[in-house]
Amino acid sequence: MTTEIYYLSGTGNSLHVAKELKKRIPDSDLIPLVGIKNKKGIKTEGEVVGFVFPVHFMTAPKVVFSILEKIDMATANYIFVIATRCGTPCGVMYRQFEKLLQRKGKCLASYITVNMANNDPKFKNWKPCSREKLNEIDAALQKKLDIFMDVIQNREQYRETDHEITFPVNPVFERLGILVITLAGDGKECFYADSSCSGCGSCEKVCLSSKVRMVDGRPEWQKNKNCYSCYACLNFCPERAIQLKSTPLTKLYTDQNGRYHHPDISLNEIALQKLELEHGKVEG
Ligand SMILES: Cc1cc2nc3c(=O)[nH]c(=O)nc-3n(C[C@H](O)[C@H](O)[C@H](O)COP(=O)(O)O)c2cc1C
Repeated sequence: MTTEIYYLSGTGNSLHVAKELKKRIPDSDLIPLVGIKNKKGIKTEGEVVGFVFPVHFMTAPKVVFSILEKIDMATANYIFVIATRCGTPCGVMYRQFEKLLQRKGKCLASYITVNMANNDPKFKNWKPCSREKLNEIDAALQKKLDIFMDVIQNREQYRETDHEITFPVNPVFERLGILVITLAGDGKECFYADSSCSGCGSCEKVCLSSKVRMVDGRPEWQKNKNCYSCYACLNFCPERAIQLKSTPLTKLYTDQNGRYHHPDISLNEIALQKLELEHGKVEG
């Protein structure tokens, strides 16, 4: 049976990790979570099933949990998770996963968290991200994946320990973070396009939640759709025209911090996640 690697990725970090893992596992398939989210009766086909996604607000994006709830994992005998992040603890997230899988009669066999680059100035180590720094981060990633691939192939139990200090506050922090991001800008959406917008539509293409729609050549963030906070619209805009309204949290991502997407992942690859493929599989 094949290995299935389900992924979600806004700036390309998790997709890069998923692709690197696929290179190491013969007969594995990459499946975009967004591409299957509207499918009815989603069933795994692999004996080994993995999930690769970013850490948002010290846990997994809400949409990851909601899709996972829906998947029938009857075929999965070995389940693993790889979360990508820029550096905060996220131990509670794995407990959330364990609980969710327990309800399905499954267990989380192994997980690791990998540090990646991004443009969040809170994490000074990653900024500015020179090619050398990116290579350094990638070398650490490749090493970690080599070890983890052995773990997967041997069907080992492997739980990478993470700081636990945030355990009591994490759920509060997460809710607060989601609230701020959703309500930022006096209850309006926190993203907007400034006057340098050329109307190219890249933001609409990469918006994983399909919240961004081009209307009369300008992006609009529809109120009736939930944002996945993936920041793909902001980071893939070729004009850097997409901004975040200034709030205590969101002002951290202003133009002075630049834009980041993984150098080996293209806008089209991010957009492809939304394609509802018959079997949910993406080649490459
Ligand atoms: C809205 C948002 C919240 C984030 N929260 C955290 C966090 O709590 N801890 C952390 O280490 N990284 C955090 N990050 C950084 C991402 O986890 C990191 O850049 C990740 O590799 C992005 O993966 P992707 O490109 O596949 O989306 C956050 C990023 C965004 C956009």
